[in-house]
Amino acid sequence: MKKPVTVAITGTAGNIGYAIAFRIASGGLFGPEQPVNLHLIEIEPALGALEGVVMELHDCAFPTLNNVVATADLDSGFADADYVFLIGSRPRSKGMERQDLLLANGSIFKPQGAAINRSASKDVRVLVVGNPANTNALIALHNAPNLAPTQVSSMMRLDHNRAINKLSRRLNVQPNVIKNMTVWGNHSTTQFPDLQHCTVDGKPSAELVDQDWYRGEYIYKIQHRGAQIIEARGASSAASAASAAIDHMRNWALGTEASSWVSMGVMTDGSYYDVGKDLIFSFPVHCKDHSFEIVADLSLDDYSMGMIRASEKELIKERDMVLDLLR
Ligand code: NAD
Ligand code: LMR
Repeated sequence: MKKPVTVAITGTAGNIGYAIAFRIASGGLFGPEQPVNLHLIEIEPALGALEGVVMELHDCAFPTLNNVVATADLDSGFADADYVFLIGSRPRSKGMERQDLLLANGSIFKPQGAAINRSASKDVRVLVVGNPANTNALIALHNAPNLAPTQVSSMMRLDHNRAINKLSRRLNVQPNVIKNMTVWGNHSTTQFPDLQHCTVDGKPSAELVDQDWYRGEYIYKIQHRGAQIIEARGASSAASAASAAIDHMRNWALGTEASSWVSMGVMTDGSYYDVGKDLIFSFPVHCKDHSFEIVADLSLDDYSMGMIRASEKELIKERDMVLDLLR
């Protein structure tokens, strides 16, 4: 058997946490040959419910589950973690925008960033899911000065998967023939699902879809899919979010297909697509061996650049709201 990897997950008594823990424990992230230690982190009042999750994990008798720790102590939870999922935080309810959560949730990510900095493996990879995910990731990264900016990212994969799903249904094709989808910007209603470089069975998708449908219904529906699910379920997406988080971390750790890319929220340094520095912004990224590279120099028309600018502007506004949480 290989040496176990340690995966820390916050908010594991919550909806996404409950969905993701069992998939990771059963080999759904790293496969059947890779044992995992799970470090489950909750707030004190949820430790009773978390104990129930631990019992169920043990009762599954997964051969890939090596050890489980359940704790409210951040340093014990992040101790030697190789992979961290920062999920624990409040979800929005009907009528709220994700940005409305910033004041409630932002302060969670400062001590968590600091504890990861102190206690996690020095090569840790951190994925922020809790909303508003991009700016929470910025807070975590600012508070983890020993980490390289490339060690923290935010989840845009749910939007990416939604964009693939909607296109595949429109064209009546399997999702896996759709390549090089990009969702740019913020995980919010300013996100830009971009079909310009996307291919379907090797053909440019722009040739297959009607531009009015694309710029009208398609983009709007992807931007508002989270709210549509809250309206229908009375609760925010959970199983699809857990699935997207696994897709994100698997690609980051094990790589994307050769010459293809996925969408990830990553730290900006000002050198890609005129997006200013010090934001967590979603770009097309190619991943290999625990690292990623932003796909550079894609041609973008004025419409696309306008959409990217709007999302950048919103992220700057979010950053301005949390300046006191950035060290
Ligand atoms: P939930 O309310 O079901 O569960 C949240 C859990 O987090 C609870 O068990 C709570 O006790 C725990 N928690 C709260 N503060 C914590 C802290 N400081 N440390 C550890 N745990 C803490 O919510 P959910 O449906 O699981 O959603 C979690 C977050 O994920 C929300 O912010 C939601 O908006 C976000 N989300 C993001 C995406 C995305 O695409 N980025 C998708 C879906 C949901
Ligand atoms: C989603 O996109 O489903 C999540 O971010 C939850 C939400 O608030 O929309």
